[in-house]
Amino acid sequence: MAGLFGLFATGCTVPPNTAPVSSKDAFIDSVLSTLTIEDKAGEMTQLTLDMVCVGKPGKVEEPHRLDPDKLEHVLVDLKVGSILNCAGHAYPPEQWHEFISGIQSKAAEKPSGIPVLYGIDAIHGTTYTTGGVLGPQQLGLAATWDTTLVRKFAENAAQEVLASGIPWNFSPVLDVARDARWPRFWETFGEAPKLVSDMGVSMVKGYQEGPSPIAACLKHYVGYSRPLSGKDRTPAWIPERQLREIFLPPFAAAVKAGAATVMVNSGETNGIPVHADRHILTDILRDELGFKGLVVSDWEDIRYLFKRHMVATDYKDAIEMAIHAGIDMSMVPTDTLFPVLLAELVHEGRIAESRIDESVRRILGVKYDRSLFETGGMPPALVDYPDKVRLEGTAARAALESITLLKNEGQHAIYPDQPILPIGGSGRILVTGPTANSLNALNGGWTGTWQGRNPKYNTPGRPTAVESIRAVFGEDRIALAELDMEFGQADIDAIVRSLSPRTTQCAVVFLGEMPYTEFMGNVETIELFQNQQDLVRAIHATGVPIIGVYVGGRPRTHHHIEPLMDAFIMAYLPGDYGARAIADVLSGDFNPSGRLPFTWPRHPSSHLTHDCKHTELNGDGFNPQYTFGSGLSYSPVQTTELKILTGETANMGDTITVEVTLENKGIRSTTETVILYSQDRVASITPSVDELAAYKQVVVPGGATTTVSLDVSTRELGLIGRDNAYRIEPGTFGLRVKDQTAEFELIGPQ
Ligand code: GLC
Repeated sequence: MAGLFGLFATGCTVPPNTAPVSSKDAFIDSVLSTLTIEDKAGEMTQLTLDMVCVGKPGKVEEPHRLDPDKLEHVLVDLKVGSILNCAGHAYPPEQWHEFISGIQSKAAEKPSGIPVLYGIDAIHGTTYTTGGVLGPQQLGLAATWDTTLVRKFAENAAQEVLASGIPWNFSPVLDVARDARWPRFWETFGEAPKLVSDMGVSMVKGYQEGPSPIAACLKHYVGYSRPLSGKDRTPAWIPERQLREIFLPPFAAAVKAGAATVMVNSGETNGIPVHADRHILTDILRDELGFKGLVVSDWEDIRYLFKRHMVATDYKDAIEMAIHAGIDMSMVPTDTLFPVLLAELVHEGRIAESRIDESVRRILGVKYDRSLFETGGMPPALVDYPDKVRLEGTAARAALESITLLKNEGQHAIYPDQPILPIGGSGRILVTGPTANSLNALNGGWTGTWQGRNPKYNTPGRPTAVESIRAVFGEDRIALAELDMEFGQADIDAIVRSLSPRTTQCAVVFLGEMPYTEFMGNVETIELFQNQQDLVRAIHATGVPIIGVYVGGRPRTHHHIEPLMDAFIMAYLPGDYGARAIADVLSGDFNPSGRLPFTWPRHPSSHLTHDCKHTELNGDGFNPQYTFGSGLSYSPVQTTELKILTGETANMGDTITVEVTLENKGIRSTTETVILYSQDRVASITPSVDELAAYKQVVVPGGATTTVSLDVSTRELGLIGRDNAYRIEPGTFGLRVKDQTAEFELIGPQ
């Protein structure tokens, strides 16, 4: 059926015998009926862009360009159905158009003519399109607690990604972050399954239901974020009960929200590589959660079944294992053996053709939904590339709302009874620290390049933190003492040599990390780097007040020096608009409203989370550096009078309504995130000390008092029982907002 689908792309009328049929399923079945086993094996194959470029995988020749012979071999000979990624760095839209057009034009020459499904990691905005809008990484988006904003941010990202000609985004990450050592902590929406679920659903809807819909991809299904060692892709031991309590709910919620695709966890849980785990990939994902979309492997993970996990004797064995477990598409991505071996397995009867038909239907379904059969996968006209000015406001707003003020003490420069922030007065401000003057530090990994470390691919013209501070406070107030990550005692001595309260009003010390992702971010400890601790100590010894600003993707512990800082701000990885967001919070132009989406450990070996168990409170109790949900503003809001409006008892299935009174003790309007926790007093499974039950954002004008009500369904107060089934148990429940508490009795049958 040479080039059938190329016809759509050229707008030709479709020959009578292949007229498009009325329904999606009928259309897909009609296409499927024309495919050979080799066509089908090709559709299930995803290669990285390097494989069709001049040069070698990982060493593509500059300027990156398509290799016609490789295109012919990959698309026409091997009939490959999907390509992903950049070939090492970001490209301008024009070059994406060249790549996508070249690939799809050749795809039209495939025996099946089926367009290629192109995928990219645009995980915090348009990460691989030069000049694209880059907002906060997910951890910062979670700190906004603003699901409406996150949905809009995803909608905007989809507009640019699709305008580059790419209809599939490997986002959101729905892994639940439980261990700050894990190098992809910052790619998540934090530690609370409910917040991760809500944010994940918002992002999926933003990608898939906006003005320029693209296919979302839920990753990394499931249990990837809890390796025992804290290191990427090392074994996780997650009993099914905990899997269902903590790690599965965000995927279940996003599947229910209509996510188009799922990417599999590269790791192993309980000794079984997830890529070979039919129970997880089929029994749970398909049969229980009802997922009908496309399941794609992660990078090279089918081959790794025999190369790393040692559960397969050879590549063919690994392929058979993975397809039978439930994988639909292999992100191969740098060999051309996969489709050949897969076709062999079908011809040999080791994999039934009906099994690969299931996968090909799902793949064709995503291509159909993304209108690839109508457009031939061709990119939209460049002239229609969205105007960045229309999109960046949301990214800038998200950066502002993410900034989390965790400590504000010391003395204000003008009002001695006020804390040090926002910075007042007109005295000299010293800015120093390794993340003070780096746009890469603000963006993190998956920015311009995989590891996000190459300034060459940064968005032109976006400021670093110190540049924005200069813009806001005035050039002449700001003295920069620039440091790189490896600075030493001599650098510190040079900084403090001339430092005194007489000459310097305060020091803004930028702490944190430089970008990394995946195994490149593995660490032996999450203690803050010694040189950064020494820097704070030395500045403190001069008597100059210190404002710490942490830029980084995971909470490194700093309990020794925390008391030496008058104020402390968590900026996460705020993106291209993060510098201005930090400066606006420091100056008071923006009243900070961010709230921590994770627990900041006090000690490197502590991995407690807000929903820890009572037995974990022994000794000094639950005493993290900063608690989950914490965050200050410049106009503090006092919470009082928590009432359960629905009374002291509730029946199964009832919705509980809680009301609290908020009083803004300051003069500025404050966005207050009211966070309601529930506590099951006695249960058949050890109850957590706190569970995130509900949250709501309220703007409280300066000096105003208002009440706000939150609803929580008793259906959400259940637990995963000893039989691994969800259950709601009658009994006494506590409810808490900050230090306000109340109880009610849940009555009725189990
Ligand atoms: C990586 C990551 C995954 C990403 C994929 C494609 O290994 O684990 O998050 O989407 O490869 O780049």
